[in-house]
Amino acid sequence: AKLSVRDALGAQNPSGERVKVQGWIRSVRSQKEVLFLHVNDGSSLESLQVVADSSFDSRELAFGSSVEVQGQLIKSPSKRQNVELKAEKIEVIGNCDAKAFPIKYKERHPLEYLRQYPHLRCRTNVLGSILRVRSEATAAIHSFFKDSGFVHIHTPIITSNDCEGAGELFQVEHSSKIKLPEENFFNVPAFLTVSGQLHLEVMSGAFTQVFTFGPTFRAENSQTRRHLAEFYMVEAEISFVKSLQDLMKVMEELFKATTVMVLSNCPEDVELCHKFIAPGQKVISFVDKPQYIYSLNMLIAYNEYNYILKFFFFWGIDLQTEHEKYLLKHCGNIPVFIINYPSALKPFYMRDNEDGPQHTVAAVDLLVPGVGELFGGSLREERYHVLEQRLARSGLQEAYQWYLDLRRFGSVPHGGFGMGFERYLQCILGVENIKDVMPFPRFTHSCLL
Ligand code: 4AD
Ligand code: MG
Repeated sequence: AKLSVRDALGAQNPSGERVKVQGWIRSVRSQKEVLFLHVNDGSSLESLQVVADSSFDSRELAFGSSVEVQGQLIKSPSKRQNVELKAEKIEVIGNCDAKAFPIKYKERHPLEYLRQYPHLRCRTNVLGSILRVRSEATAAIHSFFKDSGFVHIHTPIITSNDCEGAGELFQVEHSSKIKLPEENFFNVPAFLTVSGQLHLEVMSGAFTQVFTFGPTFRAENSQTRRHLAEFYMVEAEISFVKSLQDLMKVMEELFKATTVMVLSNCPEDVELCHKFIAPGQKVISFVDKPQYIYSLNMLIAYNEYNYILKFFFFWGIDLQTEHEKYLLKHCGNIPVFIINYPSALKPFYMRDNEDGPQHTVAAVDLLVPGVGELFGGSLREERYHVLEQRLARSGLQEAYQWYLDLRRFGSVPHGGFGMGFERYLQCILGVENIKDVMPFPRFTHSCLL
């Protein structure tokens, strides 16, 4: 039978079953009479030890080569593993030119070095672990929402609106080879989506609780360790929600449930990341400690006495990365919610708190150590006339007639949030640079492969 390395390693009482395993050689060690190979196929961090006698040519069996091994699965005499494969036949499927191969045997390459090889870095232990965790976390997020009664919606990738109103759009144009009677393929300017929120709001008017989890795009010219031009966002929208507390509860539950599931499904992969990338890192937990909640205006009043943000900060400016860092440190490096931002800093859809001259909206961000802003969310303006005026002030009235319609035909108080998926992975794995948790990162001046 053909077995994955994971299944072979998991065999309880192997007693010489004949199996076939396929994968890539991760190590070769030859002793007088025997040859030890480790074969990995990506199904687990651990590789399968293959034991071969000296009749096999060790020069053929080079690091990096792909092989198919047939033999008997037996209990290993070594304490380091339970199971090993006693080879009867080893076929090299593809040779590896070890001299030219950028990944070297027994070397621990820094992540920056590996970033130059997006087509090869997945063959290292560390990227293997990160990408398996990414896959597990994706499944965990879907199952959290399914178990909580949310309906999954495929929101469009190509859209004619700019949800966040920040103008950080990539425009979509058809290739010049395609001849159309019109200049423009869609007749209107079309863009890659920055957020599925507005489409989710449409759906929340019928399904009550909805979510989407897909790629989003921002032409942000920011060369930082937490921004990408293409990233995945987990977004939820919930009808009949009246307070930020209700939203924060779902944000917290999503974070907890996903993390618990990842930890139970691939503990070795998480452990490897912590050991090699962030020694001493502990997964941030909402369970151990209570999270702090600051409203932005309270925070500012507080800051005047305590100077916790350490430098220039006043009403009306947004929290900068450095502010976030100091604030998190001040709170003992646990997740911190910030609520009620100045209206002027936030998009048109956020619900007006009607609190006089400060003029805040019901926004909520969640900051986490090492990453900063992980979630952004808000209550949405569900009142027809308030929204109409807000749109008029921004000159968006015409484009958003359909959005106003939602407030005419059975409007309900509602709210939602978006979580940056790569930032979530950075947070639980302790990965410094966002480019290392994305299989094929895109950012300013770089679109490799
Ligand atoms: O705060 P943002 O811009 O919120 C929205 O787009 C809302 N419409 C979401 C909603 O309410 N449905 O983005 C949400 C999160 C951020 O908190 C951050 O974690 C992540 O998306 N994010 C990025 N991640 C990587 N690279 C970028 N350029 C990102 N921009 C935002
Ligand atoms: Mg935000």
